[in-house]
Amino acid sequence: DAVERGEYRHYMQKEIFEQPRAVADTLEGRLGEDGVLPNIFGVEGEDLLTRVQGLHIVACGTSYHAGMVAKYWIESLAHLPVSVEVASEYRYRDVVVPDDTLFVAISQSGETADTLSALRETTRRGYLGTLGICNVPESSLVREADLKLMTRAGPEIGVASTKAFTTQLTALALLALELGRMHGLDAARQRSLVAELAHLPMAIEDALKCEPAIAALAEHFVHRQHALFLGRGAQYPVALEGALKLKEISYIHAEAYPAGELKHGPLALVDEEMPVIAVAPNNAMLDKLKSNLQEVRARGGELYVLAGRDTGMEVDPSRGEVIEVPLGGHFVAPVVFTVPLQLLAYHVAVLRGTDVDQPRNLAKSVTVE
Ligand code: G6P
Repeated sequence: DAVERGEYRHYMQKEIFEQPRAVADTLEGRLGEDGVLPNIFGVEGEDLLTRVQGLHIVACGTSYHAGMVAKYWIESLAHLPVSVEVASEYRYRDVVVPDDTLFVAISQSGETADTLSALRETTRRGYLGTLGICNVPESSLVREADLKLMTRAGPEIGVASTKAFTTQLTALALLALELGRMHGLDAARQRSLVAELAHLPMAIEDALKCEPAIAALAEHFVHRQHALFLGRGAQYPVALEGALKLKEISYIHAEAYPAGELKHGPLALVDEEMPVIAVAPNNAMLDKLKSNLQEVRARGGELYVLAGRDTGMEVDPSRGEVIEVPLGGHFVAPVVFTVPLQLLAYHVAVLRGTDVDQPRNLAKSVTVE
C-alpha cells in the first residue's frame, strides 16, 4: 500500500497529481495538428457520428458532471442539441428520442447498475447508436456499447473520483471536436482548439502548483458546516463537482449554483457563516459573475475566488481571498479549474481527519440499484 502511494499520503492526492499524465495518455494517438485523428471511435464511428443530429448523455455522480460540461462544448462547437441526465432518472422516464440521436453513457467503472440499465433500455428506445466512455476496457459498458472511447486514467483507488473525471472531460473534448468537424466547425477554430487540448497536460501541471495556496485556503473551511460553490456556463458543472468532492470526503454540506441563480434562493443563506467559492475564468461571463459576487459581498459573505489572469477581481482580505489559476485557454478551462477544487476538498478533509480514500457510506462502484 505505502509502496503504491509513493511520496503521497493518500491515493486521492496521488491521483490528483497523476492527472497531467492521465490526460496525456488519453490524448495519445488521438489528436493530430489539425484535428482528431481518424477512427478513434472505431471504423463504424465515422459514419455514425456524421449522421448524429442530437445526443442524450446519461451517467451518475462525477461522470454526470463530465456529461454536463460536454453539453456546453458540443452545443457550441457542433450546434447539436444535447440532453444530460442522471441514469437513475433516465431509466424510469418516458424518454422522447428524436431521429438520429446518439446515446452516450459515461462511467469510470463501466459497472454502475443504473448506467448499465439505462444503456440496456436504449435497445427499445430507437437510438441511432450508443457510445460508452469508460476507464475499464473489460467492463460490461464497453462490451455492450456500439462505439467506445476509453479514458486512460489507469486504476483509480480513491472513492472520490479525480483523474477519472478529468480524463472523461478529455475524451468528451475529443468527441466535441470530432462532432464539430463533421457539423460545420471551421478549420482555423478547430486548429486553435486542438492546440489548447494538446497543451492541457501542461496546463494541469501549472494548476497543480496552486497546491500550497489551496492548502492554506483549506484552513478557512475546517470548522464550517456549509459551503456554497458558484460558476457560470461550463464552469457551473465544475462548481457542482467541487461541491460534490467536498461533501464526499470532508462531510461538509456543500451546494453548487449557477451564479445567476443566486438571487432566486441561495442568497438567503449567505451570512458570515457561509463561505462562497466562485470559479471565475476571464471570459465573456466575467462581468455578469462579478455582479453576482457583489451580491455575496453586500451580505457580508466570505468570498473565495479562483480567478483566471487579469480578472481584476478584488476581495476584502479580511473577508476572503482571490487565488489566481492559470487558465490554459477558454475551451479547456473547466478541466483546469477542477484541479484546485479537488485540492481544496482534499486538504479540508485531511485537516478534518476523515478517511480520505474510503469516505463513510460510499462505494467506488455502485453495482446494485
Ligand atoms: C460512485 C462513486 C463516484 C462515481 C459514481 C459513478 O458513486 O463513488 O465517484 O462518480 O459512482 O461511477 P461510474 O463508475 O459509473 O463513473
